[in-house]
Amino acid sequence: MKKVSLLIPVALAVALLSFQQIQTDLNASMERGKEIYQRNCISCHMDQGEGLPGIFPPLSKSDYMLADKKRAIQQTLYGVSGEMTVNGTQYNGEMNGYDLSDEQMSDLMNYIFNSFENKAGVTTPAEVKSARKK
Ligand code: HEC
Repeated sequence: MKKVSLLIPVALAVALLSFQQIQTDLNASMERGKEIYQRNCISCHMDQGEGLPGIFPPLSKSDYMLADKKRAIQQTLYGVSGEMTVNGTQYNGEMNGYDLSDEQMSDLMNYIFNSFENKAGVTTPAEVKSARKK
């Protein structure tokens, strides 16, 4: 019994430490996210997230994306189509979803939400997990 009750605080401490690591290690996460971005997203949303006006919406200073992080996670995971207005320009296209893990998705979010003149804080794997549709 003693051993078991010790395991709980140890497990909590480990979980807390790894969570803090994620929080403070934004730069490393963004580096990993950049690779995912360059592999999967750059062809449409472009090198600086500028997109292609009227065809591929921008991620740089995107009022639409920055307004709702959970929606951005879901659109990247599951795809999106139909009308949207991004920074005053109408889009009516289609994007496929991406099969990314919670960790990959949080790295990608950390990159796109903190690059291209965006500065919108940390996304953890746990946030990605809870944004997934059950
Ligand atoms: C083949 C082109 C293409 C690729 C590749 C692509 N997208 Fe998109 N993306 C689009 C289009 C088109 C839309 C708008 C869809 C609509 O009009 O409904 C969009 C919309 C978005 C939006 C919401 C609108 C905005 O600009 O704020 C986000 C966020 C986004 N994409 C992120 C990503 C991420 C992250 C990746 C890589 C994992 C990616 N996209 C890859 C074409 C693409």
